[in-house]
Amino acid sequence: MTNPTIIPETQTATKANSTLRTIKIFDTTLRDGEQSPGGSMNLTEKLKVAQALSDLGVDVMEAGFPIASPGDFEAVREISATIRGPIICGLARCNDGDIDRAWEALQKAHQARIHVFLATSAIHREFKLRMSQEEIIERAVKGVQRAVSHCDDVEFSAEDAARTEIDFLCRVVEAAIDAGATTINVPDTVGYTTPNEMYERILSLLNRVPNIDKAVLSCHCHDDLGLAVANSLAAVQAGAGQIECTINGIGERAGNCSLEEVVMAMRTRQELFHTQTRIVTERLVPVSRLLCKITGLDVQRNKAIVGRNAFAHESGIHQDGMLKDRSTYEIMRPEDVGFAKTDLVLGKHSGRAALADRARELGYQLTGENLQTVFEQFKTLADKKKELYDGDIVALIQQQISGPTQRVWSLVSFSVSSGSGKTPTVDLTLQHGDEQFNERVEQGDGPIDAAFWAVEKITGIKVVCKDFRVRSATIGRDALGEVTVEVEHEGQLYRGMGTSTDTVESTIQAMLNAVNRIVTEKTVRSQGRVTPQDA
Ligand code: KIV
Ligand code: ZN
Repeated sequence: MTNPTIIPETQTATKANSTLRTIKIFDTTLRDGEQSPGGSMNLTEKLKVAQALSDLGVDVMEAGFPIASPGDFEAVREISATIRGPIICGLARCNDGDIDRAWEALQKAHQARIHVFLATSAIHREFKLRMSQEEIIERAVKGVQRAVSHCDDVEFSAEDAARTEIDFLCRVVEAAIDAGATTINVPDTVGYTTPNEMYERILSLLNRVPNIDKAVLSCHCHDDLGLAVANSLAAVQAGAGQIECTINGIGERAGNCSLEEVVMAMRTRQELFHTQTRIVTERLVPVSRLLCKITGLDVQRNKAIVGRNAFAHESGIHQDGMLKDRSTYEIMRPEDVGFAKTDLVLGKHSGRAALADRARELGYQLTGENLQTVFEQFKTLADKKKELYDGDIVALIQQQISGPTQRVWSLVSFSVSSGSGKTPTVDLTLQHGDEQFNERVEQGDGPIDAAFWAVEKITGIKVVCKDFRVRSATIGRDALGEVTVEVEHEGQLYRGMGTSTDTVESTIQAMLNAVNRIVTEKTVRSQGRVTPQDA
């Protein structure tokens, strides 16, 4: 290994230079993000997120890990066939089966990338892979070569790079580039490193790997110590040209680097970083909310950039300062990240076009049948409520798009009676195919509990309720109530969501949503799923 100290121009930290480096944003919400507990999505949901990510302007979209399950394969294939704009990427371990499967899924992509990974740290070599350093290099080279035989755009990740001996990491990287990798990713797989260490690591690679100018250096940071964004920014300052991140920072354990935070840090402190991205920042809040709705993984109110309080000034001194000049306490404008200026939107006289327009601003493309269904529900709701807010519109759209692939069971009608000292009663009728089923249940602690019993009795699907949340979609007594349930069935967790001005109805809808997922997803469950940690 020679030891040149020349840093390639495109990757040099340009402190004294006024030209801006464009940093590639590699989004892995649909792959690493989807691995977060409770973050799984069905195909329809993944396609919605993929479209939103494309509108957001990400450079690369990691759509899944095709060998992991038939569902992952299908998602990468559908996203490749329908999403235009970003490079579509599929993950694979360094073996022929994984790589060929990834390539098969990427066939219809206009621009495809195969992302191969192999662990390099001593801990992973010794305990997980039981391979020597030489064997690792050989496997990495073979993997990259196989991927290159399919596709020009190949990324190699040295899993657990942040804990890998630097001399060995340099050798692996050099070999992977020689084999044809065009992007080299440096993951902090376990979220262990610190900004200084990350900076030094990237700089070492840039200074010591002789062929480094033939690849883009990338960072991929996990947030176990809450340092993922800081570490990614340090990597960029050292000269990395790509950041791997997820919307809302979702991902394994504590999550990944948050896309919205890292992008806004670079934009807000451009004089410091001398970088730019292609992200349409006004789309950040809509994408964040879309993901929250789809996964049920809410962000905390004080979450940077996209939390509901991110721009709320409560203290009198701050409010006074803001009135005199916004720059006293505001470093970013809420509209730059996509907070709507006004929340009050539509009423019963609004038409289909206005609804579609507002939906677009909120991050949803409503067309054809979807637009018609949401419009009809919107009219019904407008008869009940005088004014409709963004939250109402989002709740209606979400109910429409988050429906399971098959509406196996649906609600026909229900009635409840409950009161102090009375056992609650639910009379429920559900539709299944052409048939209707009715049960009257007098059981439970209250009407919600009774509704759970009734749904279980009719569908025959027994569940344990793990989480039950009711949230008002907007303000006011007539607000839509959104119910999210997480239920366990045969050791597997399923989510369901329902929306109505009647909370018992929302609960039944949410339960049915979960039951339908159980019925549709049960069949693929038996085929198993591989995660990068199994590699
Ligand atoms: O965290 C990690 O190391 C990964 C790799 C597969 C890139 O997600
Ligand atoms: Zn990861």
